[in-house]
Amino acid sequence: MESTTVGKVITCKAAVAWGPGEPLVMEKILVDPPQKMEVRIKVLFTSVCHSDLSAWKGENESQRAYPRIFGHEASGIVESVGEGVTGLKEGDHVIPIFNGECGECEYCKCERTNMCRDYGVNPMKKVMIADGKCRFWTKEKREPIFHFLNTSTFSEFTVIESACVVKVDPDFPLNKMTMLSCGVTTGVGAAWKTADVKARSTVAIFGLGSVGLAVAAGAHARGASKIIGVDINPAKFVKAQALGVTDCINPKELETASHEEIKRLTGGGGVDYSFECTGNLAVLREAFLSTHLGWGLTVLLGVHPGPKTLPLHPMELFNGQRITGSVFGGFKGRTQIAGLAEECMRGVVNLDEFISHELPFEKINEAFQLLQGGESLRCLMHL
Ligand code: APR
Ligand code: ZN
Ligand code: ZN
Repeated sequence: MESTTVGKVITCKAAVAWGPGEPLVMEKILVDPPQKMEVRIKVLFTSVCHSDLSAWKGENESQRAYPRIFGHEASGIVESVGEGVTGLKEGDHVIPIFNGECGECEYCKCERTNMCRDYGVNPMKKVMIADGKCRFWTKEKREPIFHFLNTSTFSEFTVIESACVVKVDPDFPLNKMTMLSCGVTTGVGAAWKTADVKARSTVAIFGLGSVGLAVAAGAHARGASKIIGVDINPAKFVKAQALGVTDCINPKELETASHEEIKRLTGGGGVDYSFECTGNLAVLREAFLSTHLGWGLTVLLGVHPGPKTLPLHPMELFNGQRITGSVFGGFKGRTQIAGLAEECMRGVVNLDEFISHELPFEKINEAFQLLQGGESLRCLMHL
């Protein structure tokens, strides 16, 4: 790559959010050079995830901040690196990760978690850590534009802290690698790392968007014998079956609660593992009730906005069923995603299945509508 932009402010196009639910505006912005421990990336592909949709709608008032550049699922090429960055250089193929790994903090040093003290997922964070400022500016008035989820990928260029940038093999196609930036990694990791799904076990997945389908692909790869998919949109069932779901349930067509049907399908006992991938509390309760007494495990993946708490009576936890959450599939981004990428390229998980639509970046509002309308899994945008 030409290094003529190194150290300079870049003018480029970005999709700027000006208010909750307002169409994103494609405009020229200024992008500062990367500061200490930061990387500036030329984004080549980005897609819309449900968390972008929730943030765009402003579902959680305390997290609102405008103008802002959303987007966290992407891939691209390093344009330049700031002071102190090691292991990344101009021209590297990379994917951004919203849940970073600094490698130094007490969490990063602990094998049992993928949290990171400073660079973990934080929807409240909107400026860079180095100096508390933004790297994006409006071209006309030079007003700051806020960052989002450590990544802000709805821009031709973005600046990301190096703890949130993962290098990928340049032989792997970046369009497919984009899927590992959030959704697929989250779902596959929830099955492999958080739940550690065993061969011949039984699984129920609530919500068959990209995240739920990635759980299905992960559970299928592990040899689960029964994978029950639950969704209120029956259009999701075709792809689900292609990815390993053995039984599909539409709660709207049932006369009983979903968990009753799941118990019936598993000989009365319930599943070994259930996954909540909708962000709905009533669904989380169904997921919990679907698991087997004594050892059932429910994994929460959906993002639940608002101040609501768990829909469980504490005594219900005396039956041996457990409930836990999974962020980014439990993967430590910088050290474990390269291995996942290799497995995907070997065909253990087919990343193409998750790219349901492709559009030019300029049509980003259409991509939002496709996801909101339940029509798309991931709409890959080309920058
Ligand atoms: N019961 C069953 N399925 C439901 C319900 C419900 N009450 N409500 C929604 N769904 C289904 C939708 O029909 C859709 O197929 O859940 C699926 C959600 O998929 P997507 O919108 O594509 O979202 P995805 O990107 O997969 O993310 C799922 O994880 O990252 C979080 O915030 C995100 O909560 C969201 C979840
Ligand atoms: Zn996401
Ligand atoms: Zn850390």
